[in-house]
Amino acid sequence: MSEFDAIQLITTKREKGELSTPQINWLIANYTSGVVADEQMSAMAMAILLNGMSRREIKDLTMAMIASGETLSYAGLAAPTSDKHSTGGVGDKITLPLAPLVAAFGVAVPQLSGRGLGHTGGTLDKLESIKGWRASLTNDEFHKQLAEVGAVICAAGAGLAPADKKLYALRDVTGTVEAIPLIASSIMSKKIAEGTSSLVLDVKVGSGAFMKNIDRARELATVMVQLGQDAGVNTSALLTDMSTPLGLEIGNALEVKESVEVLAGGGPSDVVELTIELAREMLRLAGKTDVDVAAALKDGRAMDKWRQMIAAQGGDPDAALPEAREHQVILAPADGVITHLDALQVGTASWRLGAGRARKEDPVQFGAGITLHAQLGSEIKAGQPLMTLHTDEAERFSRAIEALEGSFKIEAAAVPAPRKILLDRIDG
Ligand code: URA
Repeated sequence: MSEFDAIQLITTKREKGELSTPQINWLIANYTSGVVADEQMSAMAMAILLNGMSRREIKDLTMAMIASGETLSYAGLAAPTSDKHSTGGVGDKITLPLAPLVAAFGVAVPQLSGRGLGHTGGTLDKLESIKGWRASLTNDEFHKQLAEVGAVICAAGAGLAPADKKLYALRDVTGTVEAIPLIASSIMSKKIAEGTSSLVLDVKVGSGAFMKNIDRARELATVMVQLGQDAGVNTSALLTDMSTPLGLEIGNALEVKESVEVLAGGGPSDVVELTIELAREMLRLAGKTDVDVAAALKDGRAMDKWRQMIAAQGGDPDAALPEAREHQVILAPADGVITHLDALQVGTASWRLGAGRARKEDPVQFGAGITLHAQLGSEIKAGQPLMTLHTDEAERFSRAIEALEGSFKIEAAAVPAPRKILLDRIDG
């Protein structure tokens, strides 16, 4: 006879009750082992989405998900560890220049990353556009690279928070992704199990993010920072704008190209600003405050680390990146300032061009995506290129263009304005 039963727990949450620590531990352990069925966990996820969870319940849920699998430790590593996690956005390639940049200052970056699903891109898909690069490492390879190079970006092994892997896939198909207790426990269980000693959360706000408004983003950030601190991970969060794409390139190889420009001391100012801001924060949490982060992008130190990091995983940093076979240019219809350029619509169009996948097992097109020729707040003249669409399959253009309908606004009387990236911060 089992200690609890799933129906009783679902009913408690449906009636806005609180689940006890033993109940949550039982639920997650039995969901992971298959005793609690997917349909029961779907009902529970929906009850949590509708009725929420107390801070204590969220902490218990996170701890139970960590306990469902293995945890990593860097006890033998001389350098401190620091990681960053973004809640996901359009054109968000920041991990690529950030990991080697932070490693250039002697702080080790153990980045276990994921693949894209829906309109947001995945770091592993981007890096796989580099010839020879390998996402899967053994535990030994991972630790060796962390000690020798100081930065690793690779796929999380199946043993890390398996309860989250199962639950995330279920949420994705049951309309229950956007619940704060579920997002917070999903992200933090993986990051705490990963074993980093400090963590910066980049919580995205706006149309291209899970959190569409700043109050919800602040709540999510506060819950996650608290979870990290409670688990002994020095955690803080930056709230950053995702109402419009980051940088000028959206799509796997296109984003690698832009990241390499940033590592070479160039690149769009919003990508550079956010990379530097997050690097400073990661270094601060790891105890390094008196450092000139921008200089390491200009003088090649971050680029050297990038080349070592890519080569250590079999990648050729000098190989030409894949390019799409077909291109279509969208021209500006009027003179003026771009006062609206919607992240979600641009992300969806890029996805439809082949940069993303509709199902987990689909391949991505490495060269597909969108190049913006102008950003939010910049001036443009009628007839100038506004964006270029890239795909291997010309029949994808029409659905992408449909997604872009109403995605931008050009106003003659508006004044050009630089984009505001950093909206708020939550310290632990
Ligand atoms: N990323 C995750 O890992 N989990 C979520 O729930 C949302 C974003």
